[in-house]
Amino acid sequence: MTERIVAGEQMQEDAGFDVTLRPTSFDEFIGQKRAVENLRLAITAVKKRADGGALDHVLLSGPPGLGKTTLAAIIARELGVGFHSTSGAAIEKPGDIAGILTQLQNGDVLFIDEIHRLPRTVEEILYTAMEDYAIDIILGKGPAARSIKLTLPPFTLIGATTRSGLISSPMRARFGITHRLDHYSEEEMKEIVARAARLLGVPETSEGIEELAHRSRGTPRVANRLLRRVRDYAQVKGDGRLTREAARGTLEMLEVDEWGLDAMDRRILRAVVEKFGGGPVGVTSLAVSVSEDPGTIEEVYEPYLIQIGLLKRTTRGRMATPRAYEYLGIEDSRPPGLFD
Ligand SMILES: Nc1ncnc2c1ncn2[C@@H]1O[C@H](COP(=O)(O)OP(=O)(O)OP(=O)(O)O)[C@@H](O)[C@H]1O
Ligand SMILES: [Mg+2]
Repeated sequence: MTERIVAGEQMQEDAGFDVTLRPTSFDEFIGQKRAVENLRLAITAVKKRADGGALDHVLLSGPPGLGKTTLAAIIARELGVGFHSTSGAAIEKPGDIAGILTQLQNGDVLFIDEIHRLPRTVEEILYTAMEDYAIDIILGKGPAARSIKLTLPPFTLIGATTRSGLISSPMRARFGITHRLDHYSEEEMKEIVARAARLLGVPETSEGIEELAHRSRGTPRVANRLLRRVRDYAQVKGDGRLTREAARGTLEMLEVDEWGLDAMDRRILRAVVEKFGGGPVGVTSLAVSVSEDPGTIEEVYEPYLIQIGLLKRTTRGRMATPRAYEYLGIEDSRPPGLFD
């Protein structure tokens, strides 16, 4: 229960809720300043050119729930083009992708979520589609088979992935624009919670917003999810407002800890401290000890633990900081000066 509440992954019940709260323009999109600035610039340039060209292909990576899908939809909207959305897991055969590509109109955005899951045979079709706006289709079978070249209108492929390390290098090389989304700062999280409360019509206090922002693991999706729970709680047990008490009460009930960490975060920290003496430990050994894939630890879990100063990445491996010991309530008996 706790893990699902504070993990960044999409849950069935989020779907409608996420859509209501989804920013629909760059102006509404909070944070990720560098990515937004670069994308705005690129989009303005494309619109100025008016030669029928499309925006460069865009690759968005980063942990779940940080706004990759949201940003992809905003790009299409700001370009004023059609938005076609699919997922790497849903495309099994070259015929599937050919069917999608041939429906695109001039300048359209094709969004492929979880692009690291595309089968190799499908990737190969995308290479020529991305590079030359054309695909080769094989008609017929055996000796009678022949290949015909099909021209596509210029289009923009936007790929999203939580696991950029799994994207093949020829695929990666075909994206002109790549951005990695980071966890949001506490200030940004406050803005996101305040915006969501306003949209949901939940009256709030600044302490209530602060509390929720602090416990949302730097992840807008988690903030949205928690806010909905706090709203229910406040309506039943409080005065309907998002106050610090309402936030604390709800989060306690949901067993969301002081830092908003999820069960895997805690397992990782515990492993580093209890099994590896605080580190340094290599990501592979760490992964084995918590039964998770090393790439997922590196790309999904670690970034937040590092951002809030509980874990440190050193040349010899991962180390728990004194703060991590404090968080776990374990005495740090390592010699001082380890981090100087
Ligand atoms: N910058 C932002 N400002 C305000 N709300 C945001 C922002 N980014 C994301 N959100 C909210 O968080 C929700 C989740 O974002 P989104 O679905 O885009 O994440 P994602 O990165 O695509 O996740 P996944 O990897 O699971 O597909 C959105 O529906 C939106 O309500
Ligand atoms: Mg998404």
